[in-house]
Amino acid sequence: MKKFYQDEWHEIYFKDFAEPSLNLPEKSFYNSYYDIFFKKYNNFNQLEPGWVSYKIEIANFIKSIINDGDNILSIGCGVGIVEDFLVKSMDSLKITALEPSINATKWIRDIPNISLVDGYFPEALNKKIDFNLAYANNIDYVFNEEEYESFLKSVIEYGIKDFLVITSANYNLKTALSLSIKSTLGSLKIIKKSSEGQFWGYLRTKKEHKKALLDAGFKDIEMLKLGKDTIIIKASI
Ligand SMILES: C[S@@+](CC[C@H](N)C(=O)[O-])C[C@H]1O[C@@H](n2cnc3c(N)ncnc32)[C@H](O)[C@@H]1O
Repeated sequence: MKKFYQDEWHEIYFKDFAEPSLNLPEKSFYNSYYDIFFKKYNNFNQLEPGWVSYKIEIANFIKSIINDGDNILSIGCGVGIVEDFLVKSMDSLKITALEPSINATKWIRDIPNISLVDGYFPEALNKKIDFNLAYANNIDYVFNEEEYESFLKSVIEYGIKDFLVITSANYNLKTALSLSIKSTLGSLKIIKKSSEGQFWGYLRTKKEHKKALLDAGFKDIEMLKLGKDTIIIKASI
């Protein structure tokens, strides 16, 4: 596992509203961030085309393994681009979308077939619902080792049998090389040291994902590659 740092997201520079911190961003950070985000952008189409097509590629993958009429859980939906695409392209699909940053979900609040739940998994889901599939799309990076395993255990304890971890926060030869080059350039003061940005989360190897999923109690684990940098992990009990 390797820590990574970031100083902007969607061309919003963190230094404009917060001091960089060595702790993960807190709710107040995201509240300020999304206030600026929704002043700058009015809909998904205004976001960077490469980012939009990367999310639509993920949505199309999910679409390819579910059926219209299914009941799906998205844990940590963020602004909800994947969920918006899915319900608009499958007439009777129902998605429960969970997101702790209340002001992130403005664009999907009134979309039929998306039932939005403000809060963290599993506490925010106060009743037991049978889902055909649950997925966590790019949220794994916020968890340290212990938190990741306990999150995965809570997915099993909730009764979810088929689970997808979708992640681009990968630690592999390519990211290791790029981090090492950045660190050398940072030490030589040619670029800013990466650890001077905002601590954003953890990169994991495929092996680390597999270990966490097995330790949590998942039995069947299949890993697929999507596009250049995305890993889809299908886990079932
Ligand atoms: C990078 S965003 C990904 C958003 C979205 N899934 C996407 O791919 O565009 C990570 C999201 O995970 C959410 N998150 C973190 N921990 C969570 C938890 N325990 N339960 C639900 N959401 C969580 C954060 O609030 C954040 O919106």
